[in-house]
Amino acid sequence: MPYLRMTKTVLIRNMPLGMYLHVPYRFQLESYYPTMEIDEFTEGLLELCDGTQKREEILQQLSQKSGEPVEEFAKDFDEFVQYLVDEGILEWVDEPEYVEPIYKRNRPSAISVDVTSACNLNCSFCQAEAGPPGEDELTLDDLVPLAEQVKRFKPTPFAISGGEPLLRKDMVLYLVEELSPIRETVVTVFTNGTLATKAYAQELYDAGLRIARVSLDGHTAELHNAIRGKGTFEKTLQGIENLKKAGIHVDIVTVISKVNYPYTKEIREFVSHVGDSFGIVNVVPAGRAAGSDLLLSPEEVFNVKMALSDVERIETGVSPRNRCNAGETIYIASNGDIYPCLYLNFPEFKVGNIRENTLWEIYETDLMQQILELTVKDIEGCKECEFRYYCGGGCRGLAYSAGRSLFGIDPVNCEPNLMVARRVLEHGEAQTKQLMQVLLKSTKEIEGGSD
Ligand SMILES: C[S@@+](CC[C@H](N)C(=O)[O-])C[C@H]1O[C@@H](n2cnc3c(N)ncnc32)[C@H](O)[C@@H]1O
Ligand code: SF4
Ligand code: SF4
Repeated sequence: MPYLRMTKTVLIRNMPLGMYLHVPYRFQLESYYPTMEIDEFTEGLLELCDGTQKREEILQQLSQKSGEPVEEFAKDFDEFVQYLVDEGILEWVDEPEYVEPIYKRNRPSAISVDVTSACNLNCSFCQAEAGPPGEDELTLDDLVPLAEQVKRFKPTPFAISGGEPLLRKDMVLYLVEELSPIRETVVTVFTNGTLATKAYAQELYDAGLRIARVSLDGHTAELHNAIRGKGTFEKTLQGIENLKKAGIHVDIVTVISKVNYPYTKEIREFVSHVGDSFGIVNVVPAGRAAGSDLLLSPEEVFNVKMALSDVERIETGVSPRNRCNAGETIYIASNGDIYPCLYLNFPEFKVGNIRENTLWEIYETDLMQQILELTVKDIEGCKECEFRYYCGGGCRGLAYSAGRSLFGIDPVNCEPNLMVARRVLEHGEAQTKQLMQVLLKSTKEIEGGSD
C-alpha cells in the first residue's frame, strides 16, 4: 500500500499555547476528537499526506525542507506514521486518492441543512420554531448543486435536519444516496423518529444511511409525551427499533429542560439501553425556548454537562481551543439561506443562499472572514479568563442572542464551563486533570492568567 493519506481532513487550531490538531469525531457536531499538540514539522508532514504521494516522496520533501538527510529521520518518521495509522488519522492506500489534509477555512468543515421547517410535532422548546412549512422552502432541484459541491470538498459531518426531515422523503433519500458514498463524509439525519416505519427505515438504509440521531426526552411515556405530544413516546420507540433493525446506528439525543431535569439520571439510564449511543444536551434559549420558563439555571446546565460522566471521576476530556466553531460548521436554513452557525441565524448574519451562491463564495464575504478571525482574545470578559483556552469563549450565537454583540459573554455556557473546569481540577480523572493543569500553567506563562 504505497500512498499515505489522511483518513479525514483535520482541523488545526494555532494558538499562543501551541498548535493543536483536531480530528472530526463521528457523532457529535461540535466536538472534535482526538486532540493532539503538534509542531511545524508534523504540520508539514500531514500536509504532504494527501493520498497522492508515496513514503519516499514525502521523506524527500521533508528532507529538502529541513536540510537533514533522509536517513536522519526516516526511523522516527516511520514510527510516527505508524502511530498516526493506529490512531485512525492516517491510512495507506493502494491507489492515489486525493484528500485535503488540513482544513483551510475557505469552505465549510461541517454542514447542517434543514430540508424543511415543517413538522408533525409542536415541541414547546423547539429552537427551529417548526410547524407548518415555511415560505419559499428548498426543492429537490435546489439540492443538486449543493450535493455536487459537497462531493468536491467532503465536509463531515453532513447533518440533515429540520423541522422533521422525514416529512421530505425525496430530499432526504436524495442527499443520503448522493453523499453517503463519500468516505470522509459522515451523513446523519436528525429526526423525532415518529415517521420511521419499517419500510421507510429500510429505504433509508438502502440509500446508504448508517447513522440517525433520534430525539428522546423522557424515560416514561408520561414525561416524553408531556414534552413532545400525546402518543409520541411509543411512536419514537417503534421508530428507533425500525431504524436499528434496518441496520442504522441510532444515536439518541436527549434535550434537558426544566420539565425533565429532575429525571436526568433515570433518562440517562433508560436511553443508554435504547439506542446504540446517546448524548444529553441542555435546552438553549433559541426559537420557542428563548425567554421561556423551560430554561435551566447555570448550576443545572453544569449538572447536565456532567451527566455523561461519572461525577466523581470527571473524564470530560480537555480539548484546547481558542474559539467556537462559527464559520467552520455552517447552517443552511429550509429556504436556502446560509449562516455561519446554527445559532447565528439572524438576518444580519446571512452570508448567502444556496440558490445563488456556492459554498466557496460565502467565504469571500467580509462577514464570514470577520467571524472566522474571532477568537477568545476578542471577547470582553473572556480575554483575561484563566480557562480561556479550555472554554474558547463559549458560543458566539448565544452571546449575540443575549447582548446583540459578537464580543460579549455567552450567558448560557460561561458559568457552567467555569464550574466544569474547576471540578476537573479538583476531582478529575488523573489524565484529564493533568491536561487541565498543563493548559492553565501554559496560559499563565505565555499570556498571564487572571491572577
Ligand atoms: C430542531 S430538531 C429537528 C429534528 C427533529 N425534528 C427532532 O426533533 O429531532 C434538531 C435537534 O434540536 C433539538 N432541539 C430543539 N430545540 C432545542 C432547544 N431549544 N435547545 C436544544 N436543543 C433543541 C431537538 O431535540 C433535536 O435533537
Ligand atoms: S424539536 Fe423537532 S420534533 Fe419538535 S417541533 Fe422542533 S422540529 Fe419538530
Ligand atoms: S469560562 Fe466564561 S469567561 Fe472564561 S472563556 Fe469561557 S465564557 Fe469566557
